[in-house]
This record gives sequence, structure tokens and C-alpha cells, in this order.
Amino acid sequence: MVSEYEIKKQICDIGKRIYDRRMVAANDGNISVKLNDNEFLCTPTGVSKGFMTPEYICKVDANGNVLQANGNFKPSSEIKMHMRVYKERPDVQSVVHAHPIYATSFAIAGIPLTQPIMPEAIIALGCVPIAEYGTPSTEEIPDAVSKYLQYYDAVLLENHGALAYSDSLLAAYHKMESLEFYAELLFHSRQLGGPKELSQAQVKRLYEIRKQFGMTGKHPADLCPNNKDGKTSCHNCGGNCGNHASGSDSDLIAAITKKVIEQLSK
Ligand code: 13P
Repeated sequence: MVSEYEIKKQICDIGKRIYDRRMVAANDGNISVKLNDNEFLCTPTGVSKGFMTPEYICKVDANGNVLQANGNFKPSSEIKMHMRVYKERPDVQSVVHAHPIYATSFAIAGIPLTQPIMPEAIIALGCVPIAEYGTPSTEEIPDAVSKYLQYYDAVLLENHGALAYSDSLLAAYHKMESLEFYAELLFHSRQLGGPKELSQAQVKRLYEIRKQFGMTGKHPADLCPNNKDGKTSCHNCGGNCGNHASGSDSDLIAAITKKVIEQLSK
């Protein structure tokens, strides 16, 4: 079993990666890891995530209350957003929040990542919706993100950044890296006259491959809120990815799942 100290070191390594790859500026971004149902490690607020050592890392409970913190370190100001993901997605073991340049530019321009342009992005992420703007550190962001948690493993935060989560720290970081790469490719191909999108049949085959790989997490290929609206997938939502998330069966299932989780966690 990996020791808590080792996990703290891994969080520092991922912090350095997001900083070195310019996914965050100055003191931006935050990272957390679930140890068990009532213990979570998280980055402290207000420090550069590129220069942390294990002593910086704080421990909180399921409500984000401090269990352990050294010196003047306090948990991330976005801890509520992280805890909402853990609460509503029991399969998630790690959450990474960053402000990658391309992904954040799309979040600022109000353009969700819905164009099927390359196999890896379709398999790893599907589409990436934009959660409505919320004031950082308040319940507004967790509330905005909540609507998408049952469908997606990565979400853009309007005028703010991106959020990725998965069943390990490395996998959550990789989602963030894939998301930024997808956004960068989309940006550049738009500059070159617009991407040549993969066809629906090609997208469908990629969705099948994803199923064969037995990949963990949610994927709009299976859960797209649009596929009950006579549209085959998120890649066919007309650029409003996630905005049709009301009234469909998949939405009802997501709402029921959420209620059950809430009951179980009481
Ligand atoms: P913290 O340093 O409090 O984690 O906040 C950084 C950030 O990016 C807020 O969105």
C-alpha cells in the first residue's frame, strides 16, 4: 500500500507538472486525493503548485474541514468544488483543477469542446461541456458543476478554467492534459480554416473501442443527455453540449443516482 507521505509527494509532482506545462500561473490551480471516505489530501491555498513539498499538503474531512495542516497552510479555497465531486461521484479518487491556456480560452469564449476531431480525445473525454460561471470559493461553482458530474469526467468552468477527475491522481491529471491538448488542436485547426470532423460512423466506432477497453469513469457515449433526443451522441448536440440535460431519461437516472448517493452518505 502506498503511504500517505508518498501520495503527498505524488501531489507535489503533479503540481510541478501542471505549473511547468503552463496549465496554471502564479498560485493558481488545486489538486486533491481521496484517502478514504472521510480523509482527503489537498493542496494549500495561495501557493505556487509548482514548488510544493510534502509538508505543504493539508488533510480535510468529507466536508472540507481541516484535519491536519502544517504551519500557516490552509486547504485550497476551492475545496468545496473538490468535495462536491467526491460526494456525487464515489468512483472518483482524485480531482485536478487548472487554468490551461487553450481550454480556458474556450471556457472564456463560451465554446464547449464538442467537435469530433481526433480519436484519442473522443475515446478519453468525449465532449467537454461548460459549467455556468460561479464565483470562486463559493457554492456557486460546485452547484454549476454538479449538473455535469454524472455524464462527464472533465468540465470547463465558464470564464475560469477546467476541472478533471478520475480513479487515480495520474488518471485525473491525464484527463486534464488530454483536455488541454484537445482544446489546443481545436484552436489551431479552427485557425487553419476549420477542422475536418470525423463522421458519425467513425465516432461510433471509437465509442465502441472505448467500451472494449473497459475504460473507467463516465463517458457521454453512454450517458449523453442528448441521445434520448433523437441525437446519437454528445458529438451531435449542435454545439450545446450538456445544455439539453433536462427532461431526458438519462437525466432522470443521474438525478436518482445523486439522491441515492446523498441518502447513503447520511
Ligand atoms: P487556491 O490556491 O486557493 O487552491 O486557488 C487557486 C485557484 O486556482 C482558484 O481558482
